[in-house]
Amino acid sequence: MAEKIYVGADHVGFNLKNRLVEELKRLGYEPVDVGPKQLDPADDYPDFAKPVAAAVSAGNATRGVLTCGTGLGMSYTANRFPKVRAAIAWNEEIAELARKHGNSNVLVLPAQFVSEDQGVGILKKWLETTFEGGRHARRVEKIDK
Ligand code: RB5
Repeated sequence: MAEKIYVGADHVGFNLKNRLVEELKRLGYEPVDVGPKQLDPADDYPDFAKPVAAAVSAGNATRGVLTCGTGLGMSYTANRFPKVRAAIAWNEEIAELARKHGNSNVLVLPAQFVSEDQGVGILKKWLETTFEGGRHARRVEKIDK
């Protein structure tokens, strides 16, 4: 069964989000696009961060992807949900470490600072990298203690 990945954006991340949804389908994942479905310059990032973070927090999806201008608003919102580890990644190396060491389960892309092609590269790196566990598992577990 294909892995379900919840995806959301605000107006700044709208185009990148659509590209990521297509890329996820191409890679064999099952993206669940929480929107926006149309470009609305007045929309607000929490309205899209919340359904993605809630799905990951509740275990309805193992992972999610969010994008806004800086990535900050999306991460502020998503990281309020229990068990969510939303990582802003602006290059592949950070995405790799976010998975290897932090077991990040939500990728946040800053659309104002990465091109669509860079965003796809970061997404692929994040998807394919596995958690190292060991000492990092102890640290991640302590977040919720
Ligand atoms: C929207 O104007 C902008 O604030 C948003 O995309 C994001 O950068 C917030 O963190």
